Amino acid sequence: MDSTRDKDLAISAALTAGKYIKEHVGKISRIDYKSAYNIVTDVDKSTEKLILDMIKRENPDDSVVAEEGGGGIKSGNRCWFIDPLDGTTNFTHTYPFFCVSIGLEVAGKMTVGVVYNPISDELFYAESGKGAFLNNVAIKVSKIDKLETSLLATGFPADRATAVYNNLEIFKELTNNSHGVRRDGSAALDLCFVACGRLDAFWEMKLAPWDVAAGSLIVEEAGGRVTNLIAGPFDKLNGHIIASNGLIHDEVVATLKTFKVVQKEHGL
Ligand code: IPD
Ligand code: CA
Ligand code: CA
Repeated sequence: MDSTRDKDLAISAALTAGKYIKEHVGKISRIDYKSAYNIVTDVDKSTEKLILDMIKRENPDDSVVAEEGGGGIKSGNRCWFIDPLDGTTNFTHTYPFFCVSIGLEVAGKMTVGVVYNPISDELFYAESGKGAFLNNVAIKVSKIDKLETSLLATGFPADRATAVYNNLEIFKELTNNSHGVRRDGSAALDLCFVACGRLDAFWEMKLAPWDVAAGSLIVEEAGGRVTNLIAGPFDKLNGHIIASNGLIHDEVVATLKTFKVVQKEHGL
């Protein structure tokens, strides 16, 4: 089935939501803690409502899984995965790196992914089988073919201070064996940066489906590779991801596999 109508709706919702978020930078009226280091603002919640209203008005029978709970659980053939504000910590501190992320899965396959950064006014989108775009210009992953000359990104889960094994040791190892590892605080934008060649690979653990649904499709449609941490099939419900230009994927996997946290998470 043609997904153009769905893509257009996702873009329209992302642009509307992004405009709303931009108008509210520095105007947060409430911050709550979901857990230590995991914050949510009134803007996350009101943005989610705005997006859901737009999606549900056109598609009342679709299911929606959205971070702030405004949706429900996945059911039926079509499911929207929505992160109204990816990069809430950045938004709260007026660090200008956050976005809206909207993905649509049909019959178990991602068909549409849209990610919009309202500060840089960059709109990334992809439709399954039709390529990936940044502000309507086709994008491709980079051609860097060695880890030692690559630029990477990662992130750290909210339980980073208490988990016995975590990503900090891997961060150190890959920092010492590449041009550098960025930690910019929005998984959805990190994925889009891999898609357009600004980064060569991104890995993270314990992400939620709404963080990665749209961005993983955008990377694949830009010619990149998306797997779990040991190069197995990527499952957005499991939350462990490596997304790369394909060329340095195996080198990143080989490094990750040497760490206890990866062995434990993947039962090695
Ligand atoms: C977070 C961001 C961050 C990642 C966290 C996510 P949020 O999403 O994507 O980069 O490291 O794990 O939870 O909470 O800002 O929507
Ligand atoms: Ca998120
Ligand atoms: Ca969020």
